[in-house]
Amino acid sequence: MTADAGPVLALEHVDFAYGRGPGVLHDVSLSLVPGATVGLVGESGAGKTSVLRLLLGLAAPTGGRALFEGAPLRLADRRQMRSLRRTVQPVYQDPFASLDPRMTVGQSIAEPLRSLGVVGDRAGARQRVLELLTAVDLDPESADRYPDAFSGGQRQRIAIARALAPRPRVLLADEPVSALDTSVRMHVIELFQRLASEQGIAMLLVSHDLTIVSALCERMTVLQHGRVVEEGPTPRLLTSPSEEYTAQLVASVPRLPA
Ligand SMILES: Nc1ncnc2c1ncn2[C@@H]1O[C@H](COP(=O)(O)OP(=O)(O)OP(=O)(O)O)[C@@H](O)[C@H]1O
Ligand SMILES: [Mg+2]
Repeated sequence: MTADAGPVLALEHVDFAYGRGPGVLHDVSLSLVPGATVGLVGESGAGKTSVLRLLLGLAAPTGGRALFEGAPLRLADRRQMRSLRRTVQPVYQDPFASLDPRMTVGQSIAEPLRSLGVVGDRAGARQRVLELLTAVDLDPESADRYPDAFSGGQRQRIAIARALAPRPRVLLADEPVSALDTSVRMHVIELFQRLASEQGIAMLLVSHDLTIVSALCERMTVLQHGRVVEEGPTPRLLTSPSEEYTAQLVASVPRLPA
């Protein structure tokens, strides 16, 4: 029980550098709990994608530690990494790049089910694909079509269905709507919101759009030059930030809905 009550994924006082390069993250702490969405904001180069890489086990901290279900994450631990691949799913910015044009939508969604060993047989995989398409508001018949038949917003919903296929406990979304037309952004955001609350998924949302962060994230973390300058409940950070940098970010947004 205790493991379930705590964060699914966390960074504790993490430092990080690429190879022998300069430090990219300094003393970064962050935790993701089931059913809650955290926004990660900061200017280009602040280290947001690097944070996601550490949480995905694609790189290891040079100081501090990454924790997965309470245990230190070790990239050499194959069992733990297999469990992480299933439990933690990324959603990327560009839905055009994240779907293979030669695979039908159904094949793309089913692929992680097989490769991660979640569903073994064809019939089970097909059933799950149809459920997932319905969950992201797409026609089940979409399964037999190819990605080029879909708009950017629809493709991003397909990418979300694919990420949800292995029933992850965590979604890590890196600017998931910034490649989409403004008209479909909110629709995709509402979908994230519904999924996170209905399925109790822990979510980290990287976005430069504070309107989106305010709509979706209970808490937010502000990164500047690889350091957390402020962290807390989103409404408080937006209305009375304690740090000058947060205030500047908020001021750069034309108008936030109340
Ligand atoms: N593969 C890499 N090798 C070396 N340095 C890298 C690599 N990827 C990123 N960096 C450097 O790490 C720092 C943080 O980059 P990161 O991609 O995490 O920032 P970001 O906040 O995601 O920026 P953006 O908003 O532009 O996506 C930058 O100085 C960047 O140049
Ligand atoms: Mg980035």
